Order: sequence, then structure tokens, then C-alpha cells
Amino acid sequence: EQLDYYTAIKKAEKMLCRFPLISVRNVPLMSLIASNFDTIWAFTPDPSDLLIATYPKAGTTWTQEIVDLLLHNGDAEACKRAPTPVRSPFLEICSPKPIPSGKMIKTHLPIQLVPLGFWENKCKTIYVARNAKDNLVSYYHFDRMNQTQPEPGPWDGYIHKFMRGDVGWGSWYDHVKGYWVEREKKNILYLFYEDMKENPRREVERIMKYLDLSLSDEVISRIVELTSFKNMKENPMSNYSCIPSQVFDHNISAFMRKGEVGDWRNHFTSEQSKMFDEDYKEKMKDVNIPFRDLI
Ligand code: A3P
Repeated sequence: EQLDYYTAIKKAEKMLCRFPLISVRNVPLMSLIASNFDTIWAFTPDPSDLLIATYPKAGTTWTQEIVDLLLHNGDAEACKRAPTPVRSPFLEICSPKPIPSGKMIKTHLPIQLVPLGFWENKCKTIYVARNAKDNLVSYYHFDRMNQTQPEPGPWDGYIHKFMRGDVGWGSWYDHVKGYWVEREKKNILYLFYEDMKENPRREVERIMKYLDLSLSDEVISRIVELTSFKNMKENPMSNYSCIPSQVFDHNISAFMRKGEVGDWRNHFTSEQSKMFDEDYKEKMKDVNIPFRDLI
């Protein structure tokens, strides 16, 4: 069965179901995706395709908008031609026929589940990582509002689910490590949400260089402005208002929620934070990924 984005959304809308998680090679995926995994795995991208890979809620939509604007020389109108998921298809949902070549393909798959064709065809890949606690907070609110994701349950329990990797697309720890370890071999541009917040222009320029583009200072400034949190929140083509409210209930929590670094401090108690940090140290001891704003 091959689904395009809108068919998938319609299906979810009709079923109005929070899809359960099913393990695919030890990674829990929503059943809608798990049942279609063979087709996803067989997908062969064009060498001109670009992959934007993230753990859910790490800054995917932001990066998709930056890349689209870079590819369109900062032309705001051109980038309003369609909502984000149409301009940049979601691999797990739009498998594989409706994806034309030369596209920015989004995935949340951990690196070992990314179809091998991406590496064989040397597709450019941008990975964005976000510090674990903010990523967790953002995912918690997303699981509340997205009526197709498993119920998050109470906050305290959710922290433990996240730590166990018992959420859609699995362990955050394995995800960020998997891409980190492979980044040089596979020529992956590994970005951090916190860096993008700190100096968006610097990170936009990094992406531009990685894509072998050279845009004027004026165009770069425009792209930085157009991709500010405020502008993306107001832009109907990037704020996910395209998804029916039975599926994304923005009244529970907006998709463009806060867009900040450190919001975890408003959620974690000091005991929860301490417990999380101890577990984090253990899980991350084998790598040295320069995450910031975690403690
Ligand atoms: P919060 O829930 O913390 O607000 P994804 O696109 O991977 O689903 O990530 C969504 C998260 O990125 C949300 O985080 C959202 O608000 C934030 N985000 C989206 N666009 C952004 C922007 N232009 N600047 C900063 N954060 C942005």
C-alpha cells in the first residue's frame, strides 16, 4: 500500500486512532509506518535528493524551511507554494512512489533504518539534534496534540518512557549517537538546535555551504528573518495548520509551541532533573557529543 501524505492523514482522520507502536528491528514505530516498512526500506532516492533527518521535535520543520528557501534563493512566495509536508515529503508516510526526485526528504528514522540507497547514492544529509530535555518536553506536548501518536500519559511517566526509548522512533540516545558516529563517513552535516537559536545566520550559512550554494548577504538575511520562530508560526505553509484539527489539535498545544532553549526548566522538578542527568551520563558515556543547555 502506498500512501501520500494527505491519504495518510485522511486515513488517520477516519480512524481517529492513536496508532500503537510496533517494533521494527527493535525500534518502536507507529503501526501505520511499521506495517509499511518493507516498502520504505526498498525506497531508492535519486542522488540529487537531500535527506533531512532528525529525532522527532528536534527542529525538522525549521530546517526544512531554511533549506527550501536556500534552494529558492530566498523567494518567500515560491516557498509558500504548498505546506511543509508537501514541499518536503515525509519518507515514513509518503512511501515511495509519490516522491519525485530532487526533493528534500524528511525522516525520523534512526540511521540503521534509513534505506541504504541514500548512502549508496551519496545523498546529502542534514541531521539536527536537540538537547535531550528540551526534545523530551517538545515531544511530550506533541504527543498530547497529535491524535495519531500514542497517548503520552502523565508527565512523570513520560520522562521514563522517553528514557527507555518507549516512544515513536525509539531511543533519543541511540538516535543522536547513530548519526554522530557516522557523520564523517557519510558526509552528514550534523547541526544543533541550540546553535541555530544562538546564531541562526551562522547556521544558515553552514547549510548553504554544505549545499554548494552561494547566496548574497541580503538573501541570507532575508532567509534568517523568514525562518524566525515568529514568522514561521504565522506562516500557514509552515505552521502545520494544514492538518485537520481532529489530527493535530492545536488547542491542546500548538505545533509551533515555544521554540525556545531551556523550556525543560519549566517542566522538570529538581529530582526529575537529577535522576535524568544520572541516567543520561551512563547512556552517553561512550560518545562526546557537544550538547548544551542540559544542566
Ligand atoms: P517546541 O515544542 O519546543 O516549541 P519538529 O519540526 O522537529 O517537529 O520540531 C518542532 C519544534 O521546533 C517545536 O519546539 C517548534 O516550536 C520548534 N520550531 C519550529 N520552528 C522553529 C523556528 N523557526 N525557530 C525555533 N524553533 C522552531
